[in-house]
Amino acid sequence: MRILPSLRRLVVSLSAIALGAALFAAPAASVEERVKELLGRMTLEEKVGQLVQYSSREDMTGPATASSIAPQMQSGGVGSMLNIVGAAETRKWQKLAVESSRLHIPLLFGLDVIHGYRTIFPIPLASAASWDLERIEKAERIAATEAAAAGINWTFAPMVDIARDPRWGRIAEGAGEDPYLGSAIARARVHGFQGDGSFATTETILACAKHFAAYGAAQAGRDYFTTDVTERVLREVYLPPFKAAVEAGVGTLMPAFNDLDGTPCSANPFLLDQVLRREWGFRGFLVSDWAAVEELRAHGNVTDLRDAAKKAFLAGMDVDMQSEAFGPYIAGLVRAGEIPPSRLDAAVGAILGAKFRLGLFDDPYRFSNEEREKTAMLHPESLEAARDLARRSMVLLKNNGVLPLRTADLTVALVGPLADAPLHQMGTWRGQGRKEDVVTVRTALEQIYPGRRLHYAYGCDVRGNDTQGIEKAKRAAVDSDVVVVAVGEDVYQTGESTSRTSLDLSGPQLALLKELNSAGKPIVLLLMTGRPLLLEAVEPLVDAILVAWHPGTMGGPAVADVLTGAYNPSGHLPLTWPRSVGQIPLFYAHKNSGRPAPLKQDDPYYSRYIDSLNTPSYPFGFGLSYTSFGYDRLRLSAPTIREGGAPLTVTARVTNIGKRAGEEVVQLYVRDRVGSVTRPVRELKGFKKIELAADESRDVEFSLTPADLAFWRADMTFGAEPGDFDVFVGGDSTAWLTMPFKLEASR
Ligand code: GLC
Repeated sequence: MRILPSLRRLVVSLSAIALGAALFAAPAASVEERVKELLGRMTLEEKVGQLVQYSSREDMTGPATASSIAPQMQSGGVGSMLNIVGAAETRKWQKLAVESSRLHIPLLFGLDVIHGYRTIFPIPLASAASWDLERIEKAERIAATEAAAAGINWTFAPMVDIARDPRWGRIAEGAGEDPYLGSAIARARVHGFQGDGSFATTETILACAKHFAAYGAAQAGRDYFTTDVTERVLREVYLPPFKAAVEAGVGTLMPAFNDLDGTPCSANPFLLDQVLRREWGFRGFLVSDWAAVEELRAHGNVTDLRDAAKKAFLAGMDVDMQSEAFGPYIAGLVRAGEIPPSRLDAAVGAILGAKFRLGLFDDPYRFSNEEREKTAMLHPESLEAARDLARRSMVLLKNNGVLPLRTADLTVALVGPLADAPLHQMGTWRGQGRKEDVVTVRTALEQIYPGRRLHYAYGCDVRGNDTQGIEKAKRAAVDSDVVVVAVGEDVYQTGESTSRTSLDLSGPQLALLKELNSAGKPIVLLLMTGRPLLLEAVEPLVDAILVAWHPGTMGGPAVADVLTGAYNPSGHLPLTWPRSVGQIPLFYAHKNSGRPAPLKQDDPYYSRYIDSLNTPSYPFGFGLSYTSFGYDRLRLSAPTIREGGAPLTVTARVTNIGKRAGEEVVQLYVRDRVGSVTRPVRELKGFKKIELAADESRDVEFSLTPADLAFWRADMTFGAEPGDFDVFVGGDSTAWLTMPFKLEASR
């Protein structure tokens, strides 16, 4: 029997739909098969819808759009949202997207879960100071679990920008100045958020390494400002943590606001395509920073919004956060043949792939569970983890013996604007942290020094010039045995768009310290800050300096643990602490220059200042303990190594020479004495955080291979060069215990 052509077409299309529905609905099919099948059924407009991301109206991190987006969502015109939180709220929006649209494609819900969702951990710069990868990973897993219980399935974290300029307020969000430490922490944070990347449980969420790239190299330390680094510096310093995040399986990246060598990162094919996709094999997708596509116009890199959409999308940007550029223009650009359909399918495919892997097609509401949300937050073990990481992040810079404080028969004056400041204690990007959840330093110390044994005085504001409260603070000091003064930065002085030209203690804080000093009692400076603040004028006024950073929800008990010696401080600086702004940028892995030192007595012609030392107040990797550590017996497994040969084993004996147990961050640095390009005087190539009992010694081993000595050579190839090297092992970047070795040419 002849089947009429129209009937045949009907039979064929019905069977395709049946097959498609079966494939698309069948979780057994691979993600790739399910993506391909769905793409085949999407219209051009539905594909473009996946590229569009809007923020909720309530919480903006930039200039927001006015339009209501519900109708656009119902037509499949929105792919993801940010700043919508809560199981009920995300369920509401998800229903709108899934049940009203033709293909029922679920939304992603993104949020900046930077150092905790409801349980707020120390700021990232603080936890980097712990050098404790395991606890950093655990913190991100707790953050992911809490966020996922509130409908969030995507965080715009970890921020992995290397920062060597503390004028830049976003130094608070990263892991400091070093690519090796920054890469290790990037891996830990990605694993914390994403687990193995299967998202099998609702304790893991999609992560986003940001801001790609060299955002921390902003000229003059000014946020959003231009960067001008060589490709070699880009690859040696700023890219490694992103490469580490990609190797750890990070699902998304966020290009940075800044232009890089003249091309804004948001439309930079070298970064987004050449490096990220062709060299590193990245298969996820890119989300713009807030309105960054639209900002290409301000950069002067495009003529209009259509041009911005085209340039950014062709460079490799996939999702448009709040620019309203991709939504209005990409379909027309594809129809006009200015954007190949294959590029659109690649972008949409990557986005859909993430949604399939998150299980959102199988259950769009799996993260929006109101019952789980009620019980997921602020678990005792989560709070304990936050307290533990906070105390391990604190860095003791000075102690003339005043610490640890006795808990018996001691009266303490607790003074300063940050001693009882729940909001500021949480620091920048505090997620959904609530002031009422925070245990402040005052609350914690009042439990240890009850009643008249603790005299509290606010003292002064962090900013402004009101000094009226200083006299009362001085009286508290006079009436006490010891003074703890909590000063530093408030939340409005740290994080995004908070660049500073002065790193002095702001407002009347220095005047407070000077007045307290005149009371003649021992003073412990408790510095709560999102960046290094200048201490040269402060250090002589105080007997101890403890950097608590912005320590989060449990920062108060963590501070008390360290001040009383319940925990022996073990934090080490993840950055160099400058004496003055004039020294910036100042970092340990600097080049030697042709005149590193005077050639002879009184020779003035060498790299120096006439009004300052070259050295920092405190070096990268530095941190004191209530005990002390000695280093000796450095030995190498061989005097030479070569490609394909055995690794070099570097062993040093570390001894706790004090009277109490403590933890030390044992650091390994390497110097390449001669290269086809100039090389840093030292580079961190390994670290181990160990605990030693009093008088205990332990051999600490590191392994080095030629790959560890690779760098971007004069011809811009990556690899090691034979020659002479030195290793240094110690407790900071000035480590003096050293031995030479050779890398032999390959045979
Ligand atoms: C901000 C930040 C970025 C954040 C985004 C969404 O401007 O630069 O880090 O993820 O907007 O809040």
